Amino acid sequence: MTPDETTDRALLRDGDSILFIDRKQRQYLRTIRAGKKINVRGAAFAAEDLIGMAEGTIVRSSTGEYLQIFRPTYAQLIPNLPRQAQVIYPKDIGTILMWGDIHPGAHVIEVGVGPGATSMAMLRMIGPTGTLTTYELREEFATMARGNVARFHGDAPNWTIKIRDAYEGFDETGIDRMMVDLSEPWRVVPHAARALRRGGVFIGFTPTVLQLKQLVDELRAGPFAAVEILESLQRGWHVKDRSVRPEHRMVAHSGFLVIARRLAVESPPPATPASSSDDPIDDGDPPLDESDAPPDDA
Ligand SMILES: C[S@@+](CC[C@H](N)C(=O)[O-])C[C@H]1O[C@@H](n2cnc3c(N)ncnc32)[C@H](O)[C@@H]1O
Repeated sequence: MTPDETTDRALLRDGDSILFIDRKQRQYLRTIRAGKKINVRGAAFAAEDLIGMAEGTIVRSSTGEYLQIFRPTYAQLIPNLPRQAQVIYPKDIGTILMWGDIHPGAHVIEVGVGPGATSMAMLRMIGPTGTLTTYELREEFATMARGNVARFHGDAPNWTIKIRDAYEGFDETGIDRMMVDLSEPWRVVPHAARALRRGGVFIGFTPTVLQLKQLVDELRAGPFAAVEILESLQRGWHVKDRSVRPEHRMVAHSGFLVIARRLAVESPPPATPASSSDDPIDDGDPPLDESDAPPDDA
C-alpha cells in the first residue's frame, strides 16, 4: 500500500517541530506554523512551503545554503530544549528508563520537573495506561515544562504536576517507580518508602559523590535493598576518510545513578558483625581471579 498525504507519517504537518541541520551538523530547532515565517541562519522560510514535505528533505535557503530537515528524535531534541534548569541528558535517561524499569502502565512519581526532559521520557515509556505525577517546587519551571511537553510530546492527560515541596512528602501510595532529581535526594527517601509499593523501584540522579554517599547511606538505613550505583559514559567517534578515532572531547561527567528496591519489611536485618580476622580495608568484594576475567576474544 502506498501511503497518501493523510497517512504518510513522513510528511511534515502544521505545528510540527523540526530540526534544520547544516553542512557542519549544526542544529536549529524550529516549529512550523501555517502563516508564519521561520528564520534559520539569516534566511526565511514560509511555513506553507515546508508543510507537506517529507522528513529528510534537503531544502535550499534564500542565501543558497542547503539544510536537511527532520523531526527531532528524543536525543536530538533534549540538547535543543528551551530551558531554565539543567536537564538529564539522553545518555543518562536511557539508563534511567532501563535500570529503573519504567514500563507501559507503570504508576510513576517524578521529583523535580526542570524543563520537562525526564517527564517526556517517562511519558513516552509509560504510555497511555500509565500515570506520571511530578512534584515541583517552582511554578515557573512547571509552566515551562508544561509548554515543552505540549509542544514536543503532545497531549498528556495521564500527567499531573503538583506544585509542592517533595521534602514534605507525597499524597500517593502504591507507586511502582520513583525518579528523584533534586539537590538533597536523601531527604526524599523516608517519603519514598511510604509512597512506593513493596518491590517498587527508587531511582536517584545526583551529580556529586558527597550527595551520592548520603543518598546511598539513607537508602541502606531504610526499607530499601538491592542498591546499585552506576554512571554512564558515552564517547562519540569521528569517522572521516581514513581518520577513524574517538572524538577528542567528551562529556566526562554528568551524574551518578542510584537504583534501589523497596523491601516488603520496614527495616533490613542488622548487618553481620565483622569478625576480628576481617581485613580492615576489605570492601566485601571477592578478589578477581581468572574466572572473572572476560575471555580474550570477548
Ligand atoms: C535539575 S532540575 C530537574 C530536571 C529534570 N529531571 C529534567 O531532566 O528536565 C531540578 C528541579 O527540582 C526542583 N526542586 C528543587 N527542590 C525541590 C523540592 N524540595 N521539591 C520539589 N521540587 C524541587 C527544581 O525547582 C527543579 O525544577
